[in-house]
Amino acid sequence: MKRVDDFRLRLGRRELVPIVIGGMGVDISTAELALEAARLGGVGHISDAMVPTVADRRFQTHFVSEKLKLYKYNVANSDKSKVLFDLGRLAEATQMHVGRTMEAKRGSGLIFINCMEKLTMNSPKDTLRVRLRAALDAGIDGITLSAGLHLGSLALIEDHPRFRDAKLGIIVSSLRALTLFLRKNARLNRLPDYVIVEGPLAGGHLGFGMDWAKYDLRAIVSEVRDYLGAEKLDIPLIPAGGIFTGSDAVSFLENGSAAVQVATRFTVSRECGLPEDVKQEYFKASEQDVEVNALSPTGYPMRMLKGSPGIGAGIRPNCEAYGYLLDGTGNCAYIKAYNAEVAAHPGEKKISVKDKTCLCTHMRNFDIWTCGHYAYRLKDTSRRLADGSYQLLSAEHVFRDYQFSTDQQVTLPPAPAIATAM
Ligand SMILES: Cc1cc2nc3c(=O)[nH]c(=O)nc-3n(C[C@H](O)[C@H](O)[C@H](O)COP(=O)(O)O)c2cc1C
Repeated sequence: MKRVDDFRLRLGRRELVPIVIGGMGVDISTAELALEAARLGGVGHISDAMVPTVADRRFQTHFVSEKLKLYKYNVANSDKSKVLFDLGRLAEATQMHVGRTMEAKRGSGLIFINCMEKLTMNSPKDTLRVRLRAALDAGIDGITLSAGLHLGSLALIEDHPRFRDAKLGIIVSSLRALTLFLRKNARLNRLPDYVIVEGPLAGGHLGFGMDWAKYDLRAIVSEVRDYLGAEKLDIPLIPAGGIFTGSDAVSFLENGSAAVQVATRFTVSRECGLPEDVKQEYFKASEQDVEVNALSPTGYPMRMLKGSPGIGAGIRPNCEAYGYLLDGTGNCAYIKAYNAEVAAHPGEKKISVKDKTCLCTHMRNFDIWTCGHYAYRLKDTSRRLADGSYQLLSAEHVFRDYQFSTDQQVTLPPAPAIATAM
């Protein structure tokens, strides 16, 4: 019986353990988690979602408070078109986050950054260009383009000295999205180094409509694999979404995939950025607690735990501090939903906004608990302790379980040592 470790992911001259830990914003896939994946010979991701606030937390910088100070005069104004990011400061924050992570890297694996096109930041092209280039400048091993079609993203870095040496890949949820991307970028004479096919059971935003349940990861992967074969395109294919055990992963690797991307199982690892009490919520989740809703202002459906405190909260939009989802004209669907609610309840101090959520603020504060479909199985991957809580796992434990397990088994962590009275 095969194990994941019987396969290798080949990226250029590199041979890697075919396990990719997916990017989880905002700083859920921390540098520590990505560093573990690299140390163990696989691929880890950090995320470039809201890097200024992540840098503030990591390095005690003041990127957010400086921006807020500059635009404080606009806080009560619903027109956010003036609230722009300082591109120099954005580059600085990205270089710090990426550079310090890469300096700490050990082992034979790689660290990529997950770069979401939907973070439009009130100036989509300029801010994306800065984020991509700063990550390359700071030595990132690779960039995974996500949450968007990215038809123009490679052109933003085509003159960068690392354009041909860094690994560049894209996440798609359909063959159509992939063929569009390939067609638009054909003139650059540079194929993606890998393609991640993310199915409907993934965490975070979904590349499907609210009819996501009609789609099937295996069917999409087969379609993409057959297309790449027919076109003689030798691009490693990496499925993602709902791959919960080593055996699940092996079944994809035996059918022509080069690696798997996984995330949910690592949300309950010590290295993951979620606060400890939130990790316990993930452990406790039942199948009924997981939903896909349309609350994200990005317009993509998102999977989350129903008990997320950010659902139905009615906070004032925080775009002067954050503003990552402002489109190119300073609008965000949450601002509209918030204003409609305020207008419907004049004079009320506390309102609840039901249609959308202020994703920047709530993701930053870990109040939207996004997860993959199988989050309800996390409790089966650990031990219940005497106080009713679940034992956190090490990222190494979860990684090795994917790497070596067979027969749909999940290895439990070693039981914690019981303190003996002296
Ligand atoms: C907590 C969480 C946050 C995520 N955030 C992002 C993100 O910011 N960008 C992205 O491209 N994918 C994101 N994802 C998707 C993962 O990178 C990954 O592709 C997917 O969840 C894999 O499926 P699995 O969670 O069932 O293993 C997130 C997933 C989780 C669980």
